[in-house]
Amino acid sequence: MVAVEMPRRGVSTQDFAKEIMENHPELVGVCLNINKNTTNVIYGEKTIVLKGREYIFEKIKDLRFKISATSFFQINTEQAEKLLDVIDEMICRDAPSGRLYNVFLDAYCGTGLISLCLAKYANKVIGIEEIKQSIDDAIYSARDNGIRNTKFILGKVENKIKEILENEKPEIVILDPPRAGCTKKILENIINSNVKRIIYVSCNPTTLARDLDVLCRDAPSGRLYEIKSIQPLDMFPHTYHIECVCLLERI
Ligand SMILES: C[S@@+](CC[C@H](N)C(=O)[O-])C[C@H]1O[C@@H](n2cnc3c(N)ncnc32)[C@H](O)[C@@H]1O
Repeated sequence: MVAVEMPRRGVSTQDFAKEIMENHPELVGVCLNINKNTTNVIYGEKTIVLKGREYIFEKIKDLRFKISATSFFQINTEQAEKLLDVIDEMICRDAPSGRLYNVFLDAYCGTGLISLCLAKYANKVIGIEEIKQSIDDAIYSARDNGIRNTKFILGKVENKIKEILENEKPEIVILDPPRAGCTKKILENIINSNVKRIIYVSCNPTTLARDLDVLCRDAPSGRLYEIKSIQPLDMFPHTYHIECVCLLERI
């Protein structure tokens, strides 16, 4: 992505796109996204490709990921590898090699970064994501990398998780929500399931603290989780933002 000045008056969007591509040969395309809503959601549903293509490929940990213009992907790719190392270590806490889980659930899976990098540890990995473009990218990347044990489901976590917990019985759940965190209902669904281990990846310590409080104290059934470790990671250097990865286990 590059920052450019607004087009001069009278210059068409096509000519503007052509000019940007000529001035920045490293670009693969110029897209126009239309968002008429004034909410905190950045992208609207419609994206028009003005020039070139609307996706790139990124390599992380020997895997190649397709990332479309409106799909989520960790922008700090070096630190993303460290994030995966931290999750990897938490997943392998009890057994350092081999398939550890029958099913693991990657809620808020985006373009499948965590699902695909850690698919080797489970017989089946299920990802849930609400953006269709991201799900399509995740399915593409799974095929592209020859990974056959992943299933990506389009939808909101709050609408899908109960059924998946009941039917698929994952032993481990990865939660990587946006800054708003998880709804209480989602956390209660997990508390009332048989999930043994949760790895909560958070870009907002405030909502992380709120959600950990629910997971560790609020359970009506008394079957609670305890925090085993929390690892902060600097994904956004020179800003006050901090990513945290938290491992929880059922007591
Ligand atoms: C912080 S990103 C994490 C993505 C992925 N785990 C990664 O590391 O690349 C959160 C993702 O959750 C998706 N998302 C946000 N709210 C959602 C919801 N209610 N249900 C399903 N997906 C949601 C966003 O579109 C985004 O892709």
